[in-house]
Amino acid sequence: MECPSKLPHIGTTIFTVMSQMAHAYKAINLAQGFPNFPPHPQLLEAASAAMNRGLNQYAPMAGYMPLRERIAEKIDSTYGRSINPDTEITVTPGATAALFAAMMSVVHHGDEVIVIEPCYDSYIPTLTLCHAVIRRVSMRFPNYTIDWDAVEGNVSPRTRMITLNSPHNPSGSILCSEDIQRLIAIVQDTDIIILSDEVYEHITFEGIRHESMLRYPQLAERSFVVSSFGKTFHVTGWKTGYCVAPRELMQEFRKVYQFMNFSCFTPAQAAFAEMLSNPSHYKDLSAFYQAKRDYFCHLMAGSRFELLPSYGSYFQLARYDAITHERDTDFAIRLTQNYGVAAIPVSAFYTDGTDNHVLRFCFAKTDETLEQAAAILTRL
Ligand SMILES: Cc1ncc(COP(=O)(O)O)c(C=O)c1O
Repeated sequence: MECPSKLPHIGTTIFTVMSQMAHAYKAINLAQGFPNFPPHPQLLEAASAAMNRGLNQYAPMAGYMPLRERIAEKIDSTYGRSINPDTEITVTPGATAALFAAMMSVVHHGDEVIVIEPCYDSYIPTLTLCHAVIRRVSMRFPNYTIDWDAVEGNVSPRTRMITLNSPHNPSGSILCSEDIQRLIAIVQDTDIIILSDEVYEHITFEGIRHESMLRYPQLAERSFVVSSFGKTFHVTGWKTGYCVAPRELMQEFRKVYQFMNFSCFTPAQAAFAEMLSNPSHYKDLSAFYQAKRDYFCHLMAGSRFELLPSYGSYFQLARYDAITHERDTDFAIRLTQNYGVAAIPVSAFYTDGTDNHVLRFCFAKTDETLEQAAAILTRL
């Protein structure tokens, strides 16, 4: 039987490949972005209590209302924006599903979408399924700042959307207020929609403020803002996130989402609602991960890797030119197979495989795991 692929150029993601390899070679997995320590016990108790209370049937399509109310309160207290939990928030099975529904709901065949690379691996395939014309703009190396002149140069009357991600995976760079001013100037007087991937919104370092689109009325009115409880509460396997958008955009989003998933795992939604009632759970997250970043950098201080700045997320990039001139994928494979440490080659985040000889390490790991990995990496 012949069935032409809808995604002929897409294979298994590098995260799956590297994690499988890490498993096969019993390597320390600093590749895939997930914590290897347990979540807060209160979260587990709250989920179990929800099940025992009988919260085991479909939640409303847009999400369990107490959770949407807590999300609205968090947005109000964090970004100073009043959000209607009834019409402007939808809870989704992870951020990836929210990104998918957002793109599918507003990007039409032939619409142009500006994608900043390197980027999370779902963006390009999803836009391909939308039959979008993708305009890629590379971040500046090695600081991974956005080249706004290049963004502006790619805007046309057909531009439907710009994708943004801050704090940024894989680089750990974050948008600053000058970026926001450039963005406002570019989109004003246009119908461009912003898809803002803010899954690491609560992980920024040195007290730097996260510049959510929700802080800026001119941007919030045209933005889908996506977040992930998996990242905020150390439970990536619970795959629960949410999308915030103005009523008209959210209406279109829900038209798609209701046939993707209809609704998310109810006990998890009840548990996250309880956790959000205590803001310290997310307010303390930056300090927690800053200590992890600092510890990993301290352990790596004597190595021949050159550590690039990380201002947010739970990723640390490292250049390895002083060690080898191999391609980053080759080095990542050799590192896993021969030395027992798995990392992600940053070329995997570029459509054209741009290779600046940089690996991404995830430091959302126990101190013991970081110590074991660094003991190997510093010997290279
Ligand atoms: C930038 C970015 N967006 C989205 C996601 C997906 O989040 P979720 O697991 O909630 O789907 C990730 C996960 O690694 C990510 O790094």
